[in-house]
Amino acid sequence: MQKLNLCIIIILVVLTSCSQSGKRHKIGVSQCSEDIWREKQNAELRMGAYLQGDVELRFAAAYDSDERQVQQIDSLVATGIDLLIVAPNQVATISPAIDRAFDKGIPVIVFERKTNSQKFTAFISADNYEMGRVMGEYIASQLHGKGRVVEIMGLEGSSPAIERHNGFADALKRFPGIEVVATLQGDWTEESGYEATKQWLSQQTSLQPIDFVFAQNDRMAMGAKRAAALQRHTLKERNSSLFTLHPSLTKYCGIDGLPGEDGGIRLVRDSILDASYIYPTHGDRIVQLAVEILEGKPYEKETRLMSALVTRDNARVLLMQNEEMMHQSHYLDQLHVRADTYLQQLDTQRMVTFLAVGVIILLLITMVLFYLYHLKKIAIQRERVVNTLWNMKPEDIPQATPEAPESPEEPTEDEPVAVSLFITRFKEAVEKRLDESELSVEDLAADMNLSRVQLYRKVKSFTGSTPVELVRTARLNRGYQLLLTTDKSVSEVAYQVGFSAPSYFTKCFKEEYGMLPGDLRK
Ligand code: FRU
Repeated sequence: MQKLNLCIIIILVVLTSCSQSGKRHKIGVSQCSEDIWREKQNAELRMGAYLQGDVELRFAAAYDSDERQVQQIDSLVATGIDLLIVAPNQVATISPAIDRAFDKGIPVIVFERKTNSQKFTAFISADNYEMGRVMGEYIASQLHGKGRVVEIMGLEGSSPAIERHNGFADALKRFPGIEVVATLQGDWTEESGYEATKQWLSQQTSLQPIDFVFAQNDRMAMGAKRAAALQRHTLKERNSSLFTLHPSLTKYCGIDGLPGEDGGIRLVRDSILDASYIYPTHGDRIVQLAVEILEGKPYEKETRLMSALVTRDNARVLLMQNEEMMHQSHYLDQLHVRADTYLQQLDTQRMVTFLAVGVIILLLITMVLFYLYHLKKIAIQRERVVNTLWNMKPEDIPQATPEAPESPEEPTEDEPVAVSLFITRFKEAVEKRLDESELSVEDLAADMNLSRVQLYRKVKSFTGSTPVELVRTARLNRGYQLLLTTDKSVSEVAYQVGFSAPSYFTKCFKEEYGMLPGDLRK
């Protein structure tokens, strides 16, 4: 029964492991924050994983907290990921966690934001310095080289904020007529753009208006614009003429240039923002790069993603193109849904087949084990009967009644008496002529009124041994008793129990009892 349990467990384990559709590449994605830019990117990452087929993504979002991101990276690593994709919140703070992952042999793709460590496998991003530079030039050209500008920076210590600022500042060096009146500190959220601007406005006493607000992303630009509208409303109520920032006269530009209803491209097309810069997300390419690394294929250590300035001149076209792409991807989505349904059906069928095969195998094994168990039980019973009878004194053996049927050919568990009677008769016949070395199966059969074949078949089927084997066992048993109870020599005993050569008796005795006849005497 223990064997049966073991078999069942093995089969269940095999079945469950066969039916699990475990993906080969487990990739952790550590996002520094959560917003519409990251939502778009996560959707692309999922699509990329879907297209690659053998990829499982494990997401974590740190909501702009260094501490949380460090913990999340450590936890992702602890879950046994094969590769880490990470956008570090700040340059310095996240590096130790990334280093730890890298030191454990986990390849790391840093994307979009940099660390100050060299422990990464690949880096993929658009050029943030270039974006700041182009924006600086764009604003200077819009202002014909003369004007007042406010910059709103992204999260302090994050690499895009530093690089966009450097690019912007470098570009403006060529335009001394452009004055950067203030550099405000945001943290990439719309709220931070709003708060920083509101607070700055509350400190202004100058009547000189601001011409351009360059926020390092579109969300902060929208926050600044909201703050300007609030200031205008408040000052109007107070009949003040101090409108430093104007929601519509001042121009606002940002970075990200997302497509879609809330994205920067529409805001530019609808003249809510003056310009934006596409900050590409390309989640699908990041997954592709990850798979290349994991599968040992050649890959680029540093990938620069293409990006472009969005102005009122190209925003309409960009949106149209994007809508077309959305249309196409809608079709693709539908195809994917169909393919998914089909694959799910296949999976279910596969599961059912596995289970059915498993159940059949279990049944077969149960039947075979049960059959073997049954055979063994009968064999043990038979052996027990034979041994008992063979070693019993004649007076203890049950006698046949006149009506007792002839011994059956194949005994069953219900017919032990018939079997025992036959064996008793056979034992008597053997013991009577034990001293005859020439005793043959024919002689014994004749004594029992049976043919040689009948005797052989019955003895074999009831006892599992042949008549010759049993005769030999009986000779050796008798020899054993004589050696113990008489002073006869080994040779005398050998002849008396029907062995024609004492050396052969000695050999058989050793085989049967594991000792020499002489040793028994000692
Ligand atoms: C998205 C975002 C973008 C910005 C980028 C900088 O989380 O805030 O708006 O361009 O990150 O890393």
